[in-house]
Amino acid sequence: MFLTKEEEKALDGEYGPGLQLAMRILVKLGDLFGAERLLPVRSAHVSGISYKTAGDAAIGFLEDLCEMGARASVLATTNPCGFDERLSGLLELPDHIVSAQKKLLALYEHLGLKMTLTCIPYYQFRPERGSHLAWAESSAVVYANSVMGAFTNREGAPSALAAAIAGRTPDYGLHRPENRQPGLLADFSFRPRDEVELWAAGFYVGQVARDAVPLLRGLKGLSDWELKGLGAAMASGGMTAMFTLEGPTEGLEKVEVGREEAASVLEKLSTAEEPDLVFLGCPHCSREELALLVEHLRGREVKRPFWICTSRHIRASCPELVKAIEASGALVVVDTCVVVSWVEKLGVDVVATNSPKAAYYLPGLSGVRVRLANMRECVELACSKGSG
Ligand code: F3S
Repeated sequence: MFLTKEEEKALDGEYGPGLQLAMRILVKLGDLFGAERLLPVRSAHVSGISYKTAGDAAIGFLEDLCEMGARASVLATTNPCGFDERLSGLLELPDHIVSAQKKLLALYEHLGLKMTLTCIPYYQFRPERGSHLAWAESSAVVYANSVMGAFTNREGAPSALAAAIAGRTPDYGLHRPENRQPGLLADFSFRPRDEVELWAAGFYVGQVARDAVPLLRGLKGLSDWELKGLGAAMASGGMTAMFTLEGPTEGLEKVEVGREEAASVLEKLSTAEEPDLVFLGCPHCSREELALLVEHLRGREVKRPFWICTSRHIRASCPELVKAIEASGALVVVDTCVVVSWVEKLGVDVVATNSPKAAYYLPGLSGVRVRLANMRECVELACSKGSG
């Protein structure tokens, strides 16, 4: 790989061992994928913030980096962690978990990362169209590439952190225009009846597209939050890091996406009925979703635990929506989500959610079963008593 003089010096350790380690990670990655150079990035988004998913190995690695004097050199945002500190009375966690999570957060903060603690950092720090980024968190990656026109690969936690420190990423994959061309035509032959059916169809596309960029034909007039959830579903169904809604279709392999394909995904992911907890906000809710939810909740009273997860930034930017939602008895939770937190410790066996991504990960991560239901149905479930 070609390196500039400055990059050579950084790799040789002239600017300290922290930057040297970050450069080593990036150069190794670049060599692996045949990159010819490193590109400067505008921002990095780092995953592996929740102690639940990162574990003790991450703490050791971060301690080493801090000792080596590493610091983020570009805007670096963070994915959700394992709890919302404001809810410590509700989500009572063993002391060792709380202290490990706090330690992880302190280490990331010491490295200069911003405590955004969300999977939707783009509503707070909007990347410019055409800018190069190094983002982990697959749902944010798809959104950045497909909706915002930024350029990022689907980074892992260590490579996103290394990019945050070095301010660079190897030039391969979706950083190169030739790799952003569609490689599969996903022909939507039906009009999804709600977000759950749309996102389940997206999950199916993710499964069949593998690492190709799918061109989704037949989907018109989707709102921002529907696109956000669609990308998240595709990324959890497979390796999708970008989709497109238009472009030439000649020569593309074609797959039909109909109600049956969506139903087959729903059948696999939705395996339960009565929820102990209702959850919206995977990915974290935008303002638009909170406003919709206020409409659904108007005059209603919540009778089961109902978590609406979003970012600190969104919560702080629309206090009137938050107030209206919480007046019903629902909780607007920040910094975490039901997937990366320890809901099993609340005695939860079944979660209702509108997110196929959450439905895909929750059984493995928390041993809970999931009922997929759209936002309106989730509100109905939250406002009904249940038979148990
Ligand atoms: Fe975000 Fe948690 Fe879903 S991090 S994308 S809400 S699994």
